[in-house]
Amino acid sequence: MRNWGDELETKVVEINSNNPEEDLIKEAAEFIIKGELVGFPTETVYGLGANGLDEKAIKKIFKAKGRPQDNPLILHVNSIEMLEALVEEISDKAYKCMEKFWPGPLTILFKKSSIVPDSITAGLDTVAIRMPSHKIALELIRLSNKPIAAPSANTSGKPSPTRAEHVIEDMQGKIPFIIDGGETGVGLESTVLDLTDDIPMILRPGGITLEDIIGVLGQCGIDPGLEDNINNIIPKSPGQKYRHYAPKAQMYVFSGDMDNVNREILKRAIVARSRGQRVGIMTTTENQEQFLDFDVEIMGSSKDIETIAHNLFHLIRKLDEKNVDLILCQGVERDNMGLAIMNRLNKASGGNIIYV
Ligand code: TXA
Ligand code: MG
Repeated sequence: MRNWGDELETKVVEINSNNPEEDLIKEAAEFIIKGELVGFPTETVYGLGANGLDEKAIKKIFKAKGRPQDNPLILHVNSIEMLEALVEEISDKAYKCMEKFWPGPLTILFKKSSIVPDSITAGLDTVAIRMPSHKIALELIRLSNKPIAAPSANTSGKPSPTRAEHVIEDMQGKIPFIIDGGETGVGLESTVLDLTDDIPMILRPGGITLEDIIGVLGQCGIDPGLEDNINNIIPKSPGQKYRHYAPKAQMYVFSGDMDNVNREILKRAIVARSRGQRVGIMTTTENQEQFLDFDVEIMGSSKDIETIAHNLFHLIRKLDEKNVDLILCQGVERDNMGLAIMNRLNKASGGNIIYV
């Protein structure tokens, strides 16, 4: 018998993302069927998967991540039939979004059916469901023939994993199997969309943008609880109320006129260094030469917001590994993917967004 204090042996298996080897995914699916956890890639971030209908397996997810019990999980499906068993009804709006964005980085809230365990929904009457587009994720669901519950495969509070090595760093010794499918594409989590009220609401911005959803449904709001840490409204998505994606270092994000942003970052970097602090700077290709004297990580071109999203969590982890004391990061415009990027930066910095 295994005690929770014991370390598990973690097997890491490389699988080809474009053409997944079925026999290797079968091995992973066996673990899901047995009620064990598997780290696997999706198009957004790596997930920590378990059989979403198995209470005991679900408990292991919360344990391995150190996740608060009141934070519900997303179920991942590979077919509309699998979805139908998990929900009371599918609205016209939901069908429209599914047609346009599934498989892909959109999670939709539905009224849950009775077969969905309470531990998945943290007692809520809605269940969050998405159909991922990553071939390995779809194959894993197909071969285990179960809806797979999967939060991001990081220790709670840390940046979400976008590479297998991030999962290994957080989950080695805690789970028996990790699939290495290379870097994930989007790099940020799925958008969580609530369609259970009259007006569609984004509860967590992500891979599908507000603009995309308005394009399909005509209107969509953003949960007021998501604004920078300046109000007392509790977010509707329980996960959004926790400090999250956070580096060990203190972090500040700078928004506003680009010259002011660069000047402020440089000023603070020089002051911090003079105090003996190690400084990491996250900036765009266009601005990098201003900071050659410091540990600079390039997020991508300011004209290429998708690349910035793709690199974001990796760079935060990388600067953490370099043991910097302070991270100074350039902000982005809050449109399209920029909204999700600024949401993650707000959380990562503990609300330290400075407007200059
Ligand atoms: O891209 C993703 O969504 C990744 C990959 C693995 O699919 N998964 C992911 O899961 O980000 P997680 O657990 O890290 O985030 C799920 C978010 C949390 O903020 C949670 O509170 C919210 O979805 N959520 C889940 N069920 C909910 C519900 N019934 N009502 C409101 N929010 C819900
Ligand atoms: Mg997460």
